[in-house]
Amino acid sequence: MKKLKKIAVLPGDGIGPEVIAQAVKVIEALNDKEDLKIELTYADVGAVAIDNHGDPLPDETKKICLESDAVLLGAIGDPKYDHDLTIQKRPEQGLLELRKLLNLYANVRPIKAYKALLDFSPLKKEVIENVDFVIYRELTGGIYFGKKGMDASGEKAFDTCIYTKEEIERIARPAFEAAMKRRKNLTLIDKANVLETSRLWRKVVQDLSPEYPEVNLDYLYVDNAAMQVIQNPKRFDVLLCGNMFGDIISDESSVIAGSLGLLPSSSFGESHCMFEPVHGSYPQAAGQDRANPIAAILSTAMLFDHFNMKAHANDIRNAVQRCIQESILTEDLKPKILTSCSELGDIIYTLIYDNMIDINTQKIQTAKSVII
Ligand code: IPM
Ligand code: MN
Repeated sequence: MKKLKKIAVLPGDGIGPEVIAQAVKVIEALNDKEDLKIELTYADVGAVAIDNHGDPLPDETKKICLESDAVLLGAIGDPKYDHDLTIQKRPEQGLLELRKLLNLYANVRPIKAYKALLDFSPLKKEVIENVDFVIYRELTGGIYFGKKGMDASGEKAFDTCIYTKEEIERIARPAFEAAMKRRKNLTLIDKANVLETSRLWRKVVQDLSPEYPEVNLDYLYVDNAAMQVIQNPKRFDVLLCGNMFGDIISDESSVIAGSLGLLPSSSFGESHCMFEPVHGSYPQAAGQDRANPIAAILSTAMLFDHFNMKAHANDIRNAVQRCIQESILTEDLKPKILTSCSELGDIIYTLIYDNMIDINTQKIQTAKSVII
């Protein structure tokens, strides 16, 4: 008997529900085909949760997430909160609180240049060709979670960046281990010439390195790293960063892939895990069925990896790869065959469900049919 796996599905805001609907199709393709016994439970988070429950992370959502084997999240954020900085309950708080609640201290963001998409990056083809690196971002500490405040005058504010040895070690270890399985290079991104916390990062990571003698460890100041990520991205294998630096470097790195709509991520701690696209809620496209669902779909591949179901994860990646190769994609990638978000989800569903039978591109093009 296969064990029941519970997944909490949190579509969130903006394009979140549209792209998550496609990710769910992919899970269903595998579930339908092989009776994987996956159970999905939906819950609200972010702006939609403030609208429906007055709280960006309602208790019901917390309970569902805590009781699940994995969380699949869409996107968070609504422009109606962007211009009033005095609002107390912000959608993003829901996400930060959820990361903390589930103790998701490690965030993994793979960055890859797809051969068929090299022209979509504003960077030169020869610079990004074959780029393949992964960012390990600390996710529950640092300046995001330190003491913060504004004084009564409203003219003075502060955010505190705190890290402990233990917090650094628990993200550094999986980063070293990832490097062992890859090209054995680990780069710590910090600002050790200025920040005390960065000096602690260097010391802790340096002290760990004898346990991984095969891994070549180097260090880069974050300002220099920001430059090298676009000047010479091939030099990177595994990047290890604190919370804020990892946030910034990962958006910058998305330029290599050609679209933020392609980047998946996974987050984990000791007992919970979450999978979400790197992109935001893209409110300009919300409700129009034109967002790119690939980041959300590839996040489900990372989910299957995490469940140790490598073959299923590869089925998903192969189906996505086929669509990229044949240029059957959403508008952000100016494809030969333009699909909507839901059509691309249907095509990927069919490719997985029917074991990669031939794609009848003409049929897709003329009839916009997904029967292939
Ligand atoms: C991300 C996002 C979040 C972050 C926001 C929405 C709080 O930018 O996941 O990268 O800063 O961590
Ligand atoms: Mn970000």
